[in-house]
Amino acid sequence: MQNYRNSNLIIESNKVTPDKITWKCPSNIALIKYWGKYGLQLPRNPSLSFTLTHANTETSITYAPKSEYGISFDFYFHGNKRDDFKPKIQNLLEKTIEIFPFLKQLHLTIESTNSFPHSAGIASSASSMAAMALCLCSIEEKLFKPIGSQEEFYKKASYVSRIGSGSACRSIFPIASIWGEFAEIKAASNEFGIPAENLINPVFQTFHDDILIVSKEEKTVSSTAGHGLMEGNIYAENRYQQAKTRMHFLLMAMKSGDLETFGQIVEDEALTLHALMMTSNPSFLLMRPGTLSIIERLRTFRRETKIPAYFTLDAGPNVHLLYPEQFSDVMDEFIRDELSKYCDNYVIKDMVGKGPELI
Ligand code: DP6
Repeated sequence: MQNYRNSNLIIESNKVTPDKITWKCPSNIALIKYWGKYGLQLPRNPSLSFTLTHANTETSITYAPKSEYGISFDFYFHGNKRDDFKPKIQNLLEKTIEIFPFLKQLHLTIESTNSFPHSAGIASSASSMAAMALCLCSIEEKLFKPIGSQEEFYKKASYVSRIGSGSACRSIFPIASIWGEFAEIKAASNEFGIPAENLINPVFQTFHDDILIVSKEEKTVSSTAGHGLMEGNIYAENRYQQAKTRMHFLLMAMKSGDLETFGQIVEDEALTLHALMMTSNPSFLLMRPGTLSIIERLRTFRRETKIPAYFTLDAGPNVHLLYPEQFSDVMDEFIRDELSKYCDNYVIKDMVGKGPELI
């Protein structure tokens, strides 16, 4: 068990110079899905994701000393004070206060912007919680000493991100990340993500992920509620086993660059996630007619053209189209001519990316 609690991280004098730290952190898209958790955001099965580029959150934390003792912060989203967003951050700060006890001595002004619409079904909590965690680790380094090597810094940031939102712990690493114990990879842990860049063929390092926004409406079920429903789902145990088996075969395919097997497993995972929601009690049907139309059109297109383009889904109606860089022109045309009519006027053209950036 990793233990980051550290009661020594207390500011001795009140002579802290106010300062500001900014991180930009991308979202990620899971290929093997995390769906089902226990304890403090610990996953029931291992998951694997691509780190994205353009779907990201930029968060600045300005910190200043204060005389009273306790957690205090203001939160601004796109320049507007948003108290309705505070509970998630309060929750992260409370749950990590023994890791960063000095936070009780500071007032934080947190300013955040997303490059994509909030709750468009793309994982905004992943990029935002990971950006917050990176800022908190950087503040620790500014006030005290370096956390350690770069690897140790990111490991801690991933651990803290997980406490904010499970999938956030995978956003810390470039290209791809694995989270959750998996017998074949000794370093894999339930407590933090690990880099998976070196486990995959270069063809995946420039993969595209075009996010077709079928509906910009707010999600009808929060991820946390969705995970909770797995506890009573009769397929749960089989699902957790299946995720491990798929992880094994997906990693083999990703290592060798076997795009067909990759695509088959990734699409199966997306449909399994939705099948699990459909078989929960209460059940959730998060795909929209446009989601199905896109999937059907894509499968026909793939049969006809042999272009290795595949879909995955998050816990929402939007479709992620995954394909190698070399097909980007023809995919642009296909999306424009045949798929955009199913979209809510919005496509985020994203791709696998280099991970978070200190600004
Ligand atoms: C469907 O990480 O958003 O995107 O841990 O409750 O914050 P919490 O859930 P969250 O769940 C993400 C679920 C998913 C699959 C995935 O990203 O692995």
